[in-house]
Amino acid sequence: LPSHYTLPSGDRIPSVALGCWKASPGEVGLAVSAALKAGYRHIDGAYVYGNEEEVGKAIRKSGFRREELWLTSKLTNIFHAPEDVEAALDYSLGKLGTDYLDLYLIHWPIAFKKEGENVLDIELTANPYPTWKKLEEMVDKGKVRNIGISNFNIARIQNLTANPLKYQPAVNQVELSFWNPQPELLKWAKEHNLLLEAYSPLGSNNQVKETLSVPEVKTLAKELGITPAQVVISWAVQRGTVVLPKSVTPSRIQENLQVFKLPQGAFDKLEAAAAAHPPKRVVNPSERWELGFDLFDNDW
Ligand code: A2P
Repeated sequence: LPSHYTLPSGDRIPSVALGCWKASPGEVGLAVSAALKAGYRHIDGAYVYGNEEEVGKAIRKSGFRREELWLTSKLTNIFHAPEDVEAALDYSLGKLGTDYLDLYLIHWPIAFKKEGENVLDIELTANPYPTWKKLEEMVDKGKVRNIGISNFNIARIQNLTANPLKYQPAVNQVELSFWNPQPELLKWAKEHNLLLEAYSPLGSNNQVKETLSVPEVKTLAKELGITPAQVVISWAVQRGTVVLPKSVTPSRIQENLQVFKLPQGAFDKLEAAAAAHPPKRVVNPSERWELGFDLFDNDW
C-alpha cells in the first residue's frame, strides 16, 4: 500500500496520520510523542481541537527536524473573512511552534460571523472564494505549502472551483468509514485528482466498538492475522485515501500505523458490505450549530 501520495505541489503526504480530534489536554502530547516514536510523520490537527499548543510541545520535544514532519491545521468557521485568515493561521503556527504548515484546510464549508454564537455569514458560506484567495496568498508567502478543504460535498467543491483558482484544493478531508463510505464522492474525487482524507475511520469515539465488531471486519482480521482496526485502516489506504485514525493509547497508535494490502476479493467484500447498508454519518454538526439546513445536503 502507498506510504505517501503526491499532491499537485509535488509534496508527498504520508498516507497514515495521527488524528488529534477529541484527544484531551494532558493526553494529546503523549499521543503525539508515542506516534512519532512509532514512526508516524503526519499529525492532523486543527485550531478548534484546542490542543495545538500541547501538540507543538510534543513535536519540539521529539527532536525531529521540521521538514521530516507533515503538519496539518484547519481554519475555523469564525475566521473565514479574508482579513482574519492570516491571523488565524499565525495563531496555529504560534501554538504549534513552527513557521509553516504542510497543509491548511478550510475546516467546514460554513462561515460564521466573529460576533455572536454561530451567526451564519451567508455570503462567505455561499461563496468561499474570498477565503480561498487569502489562503492562496498564504501559500505565496510561504506560510503554508498546500491548501485544501474539509467537509465539502461535490456541489460545494464545484462552487469553489468554478472560480479562477491559482491553486486547486489539494485534499478534501471528510468522514469516511464503514458506516459512511461515500463511494460516489471517492469516485468523483479520483476523477478530479482530488485526494480524500478519511476522518473518523474507526467510527469515532462513540461508534468504534460497532466498527470493530462488524462480522466482515472480524472475519477478515482472523483470516489475515491482523486486528479489526488494521483491517479498516488498511481498507482506507487501499481505497486511495489518507487515513487519520485517532488514538491516545500507545499500543493502538502503534497498531494503527501497520497497514496491509488486502487480497482483492477481501477488499471487494468489505467495500460491498460498507455499501450494503444505508449510509450513516457519525459526524454532522448542522443541528448543534442551528443552521436550519443540513450542511452536507447536495442541493444546499
Ligand atoms: P483511544 O483514543 O482511547 O485509544 P476514529 O479514529 O474513528 O476517530 O476513532 C477513535 C476511537 O477509536 C477512539 O475511541 C480510540 O480510542 C479508538 N481506537 C483507536 N485505535 C483503536 C484500535 N486500534 N483498537 C481499538 N480502538 C481504537
